[in-house]
Amino acid sequence: MMGNTFGRLFRVTTCGESYSGFFRKSPDIPKELYGGLLTIVDGVPAGIKITAEAIQNELDKRKPGQTPLDSPRLEKDIAYIFSGVMENHLSTGGPVGIVIPNNDIEDIHVDQYRDYKDTIRPGHAEYTFFKKYGQYADWVGAGRASGRETVSRVAGGAVAKLVLDEMGIDVIAYTIESHGIKAKPLSYEETKANYRKNELNCPDLEVAPKMIADILQVKAKGDTCGGVVEVITRGVPAGLGEPVFDKLEAVLAHALMSIGAVKGVEFGAGFAFALLVGAESNDEAYVDESTGRVRFHTNHAGGFLGGISNGDEIRVRLAIKPTPTVSVKQRTVNVETMTDDVLEPITRRDASLLPRIYPVCEAMARIAILDAILMAKGYRAVTKIDEKWDRI
Ligand SMILES: Cc1cc2nc3c(=O)[nH]c(=O)nc-3n(C[C@H](O)[C@H](O)[C@H](O)COP(=O)(O)O)c2cc1C
Repeated sequence: MMGNTFGRLFRVTTCGESYSGFFRKSPDIPKELYGGLLTIVDGVPAGIKITAEAIQNELDKRKPGQTPLDSPRLEKDIAYIFSGVMENHLSTGGPVGIVIPNNDIEDIHVDQYRDYKDTIRPGHAEYTFFKKYGQYADWVGAGRASGRETVSRVAGGAVAKLVLDEMGIDVIAYTIESHGIKAKPLSYEETKANYRKNELNCPDLEVAPKMIADILQVKAKGDTCGGVVEVITRGVPAGLGEPVFDKLEAVLAHALMSIGAVKGVEFGAGFAFALLVGAESNDEAYVDESTGRVRFHTNHAGGFLGGISNGDEIRVRLAIKPTPTVSVKQRTVNVETMTDDVLEPITRRDASLLPRIYPVCEAMARIAILDAILMAKGYRAVTKIDEKWDRI
């Protein structure tokens, strides 16, 4: 399996699965080391204060079993820092290693997966994993395709957050639509003040209870539903990203689309550009009197021009598909017997991914942005352009 690292200078590598630690259970191994998730963060600047509490804070946002909307799995998701940090919690500049043991793996859970290990779950990754990894494919809870994998991204993103916080760069992700029910547009300030006030992370406090009631109705039928998450990044300097293959938009899309169940991405006006004429869609420029710098009257572009950040807030929306595992009979195939089959799984799952996916979106955006900052600053340090261009 390849591609377990994201980033070029700020690099986050993850490993670990959902349930496979079960097979390494042994009296000779401390329980915490049977299995879980590991994160290695490379490129962390020296002198950053990194506490286990700060990482835990982020992990707790995506922890399962917190509301009736998400998976009843009872992982504690405790993060242990094991490298890269010394006295007074300050980073040394070495790789920061973080371990997150799995602790809610019982025989019954593994047996549930064993019962239908040859029967592919519609909407989940078994078919493609069988095609690629054959008889070695991890059949216990989807292995690397499990939502569990995302906890290690959140740990990496938590380290990025500590660096970005010092630079005044803020990332928030929240629900703007659930199963067709839309939140009303709100200002950044209202959104930031309200988005953590309900289990769906929807800043529209009037519509959130309707969304929640709807998800619970869907769940009562054994089904699941999806929605739309918006991610805003504020405080990003102009000049991040490369103009051709590594456009910041493309890198961010890569970061965010690599999260399981994210099926669509749009920046700024996104698909609504198709409805506009050019003069409406362009963001007109002006000189801001207070700073003497170029600014834009609107932000249809979502924070980029030519793949390079323009200093405006970066606005991304993500389509989140319904959780694939549903307790509804669906047609499928048993790949051992190669016969048609019917599946109605009983394993644990989230009725909607919206309550738990937002910290993963924030984490991936932070990792991508910090990586782009290190690239841009490194490039700028060895580039001799007139300082005038730093002031426009
Ligand atoms: C935080 C999070 C939790 C998830 N939990 C579940 C789950 O409980 N059950 C499930 O079937 N899929 C879950 N998923 C979705 C699957 O990981 C994803 O649909 C699967 O890997 C297939 O990938 P794709 O949907 O991108 O094609 C979760 C995803 C995330 C991001």
